[in-house]
Amino acid sequence: MSVPTERLFFALWPNNAVRQALTRWQCGKLPSSGRWTASAGLHLTLVFVGSVKTDVRRCLCQAADGIRAPRFTLTLNRLGNWPRPQVAWLGVAGEPETGLLALVSELHKSAQSCGLQLDNRELVPHVTLARKIKSFPSSWDQIPAPAIEWPVSEFVLVRSETRSEGVVYQPVYRWALQ
Ligand code: 2AM
Repeated sequence: MSVPTERLFFALWPNNAVRQALTRWQCGKLPSSGRWTASAGLHLTLVFVGSVKTDVRRCLCQAADGIRAPRFTLTLNRLGNWPRPQVAWLGVAGEPETGLLALVSELHKSAQSCGLQLDNRELVPHVTLARKIKSFPSSWDQIPAPAIEWPVSEFVLVRSETRSEGVVYQPVYRWALQ
């Protein structure tokens, strides 16, 4: 019998105001080709965990209980795209906020303490706005990025589920920042 697993990741989950600002921007500026991320699923991944067994989820939750990290504010002001995965995203211009880096570092330690091996790719903090954009219009580079202020007061563990209607992201637990 196969052991059940869950696909998990730690993320920042926008509050309603930020979610609405992101959705308004998506609606007004994105090319119509491609599959927009549904408003309810917009998020910023901090640490991708992958598919793990229940005991690993428990370990991650216990480790995250011990994290003491300060609140911070992000400004989403960089419009980016990755042509190969055909993704459009909004991120942070310049060096990521120190509060964000501190939180990610704590989460890495938590994941490692639960026996997970994480990949060491440089963090590009971003909110994916759309996928499967086959061709980015030539005017893409001229689209002015917004400046969406995001006061971050918590982080979440998200479960990613593939359902008949597509992938659904379900925040399963929240931790407050200080
Ligand atoms: P993306 O939005 O850039 O695709 C759930 O799949 C979340 O985890 C998404 O935000 C996704 O990023 C991210 N993700 C998926 N696979 C990943 C991987 N192998 N490494 C890091 N992040 C990943």
